[in-house]
Amino acid sequence: MTNNSSLYQQNDDSIRVAVLSEALPYIQKFAGRRIVIKYGGSAMTKQSLQEAVFRDIALLSSVGAHPIVVHGGGPEINQWLTKLDIKSEFRDGLRVTTPETMEVVQMVLLGKVNKQIVKGINKVGALSIGICGIDGKLIQSRCLGDGSHGLVGEVSKVNADILEPLIAKGYIPVISSIASSEDGITYNINADTIAGEIAAAIGAEKLILLTDTIGILKDQKDLTSLIRHIRLPDVRKLIEQGVVNGGMTPKAQCCIRALAQGVGAAHIIDGRIPHSLLLEIFTDKGIGTMIVSRG
Ligand SMILES: Nc1ncnc2c1ncn2[C@@H]1O[C@H](COP(=O)(O)OP(=O)(O)OP(=O)(O)O)[C@@H](O)[C@H]1O
Ligand SMILES: [Mg+2]
Repeated sequence: MTNNSSLYQQNDDSIRVAVLSEALPYIQKFAGRRIVIKYGGSAMTKQSLQEAVFRDIALLSSVGAHPIVVHGGGPEINQWLTKLDIKSEFRDGLRVTTPETMEVVQMVLLGKVNKQIVKGINKVGALSIGICGIDGKLIQSRCLGDGSHGLVGEVSKVNADILEPLIAKGYIPVISSIASSEDGITYNINADTIAGEIAAAIGAEKLILLTDTIGILKDQKDLTSLIRHIRLPDVRKLIEQGVVNGGMTPKAQCCIRALAQGVGAAHIIDGRIPHSLLLEIFTDKGIGTMIVSRG
């Protein structure tokens, strides 16, 4: 090693040590706390990003926080519906779900996506376990609204008891957004909605929604219009005004419900940025949009 390169090495080392040291107050703050992470959008489809997310989740767990993962799987479901030549349409940001579509949604989410995430987290040294709303009756559901979205459900009850022994033993629950009603009908529920309800039911400190946009934009064509910090009533206004629409609607709504039920803060962040989770949790500035009840 030349003198110059050993100097660079020293610099690299001091930066690394400084960064670690700065993270200490955040590590202490979140030790023992629950953080619900909705994993969706591009962060899910690109392999290099997938690995970064799994490492972040494992890191959170090894520094004593309790991550709980809820996942969607829109792009993967679309691929399979196309392969099987099944048409599917979105209304109000939700997939209209026929019985035929429901079969595919269930097979793809539970059989493929869930296990891929569990495997990915296990591979980087943490221990995760995959379940869906049906397991242990974690989530009871009913048909959404007048049924015009088909088998799209809403949450009628959360039985978070099943999560407690898993969390206590250090397992990271990975939850698919499928649930069943009392009379045994299986429903497809938006994963944002599930994440919000789970966060509320387990008294999470934070709800973090990873997506494929930088956060809530005032104008979707203008990335400089990112809203960094917003209070609950103003989020409601953005929905009423139609500024928030499509896939952002269930996100905004689930944040509202989670915060109203006591979750400390909700964040909508860009899953396309490597390690966006750690940037959000372990830095002062954070990234994306932070939603709080007041203040
Ligand atoms: N005001 C807004 N600011 C930013 N994005 C918005 C806004 N209103 C609507 N959107 C749309 O919401 C989308 C994010 O929701 P979407 O459902 O597509 O992603 P996801 O939930 O992360 O993925 P998945 O549903 O597959 O899990 C954005 O890509 C954008 O098109
Ligand atoms: Mg979505």
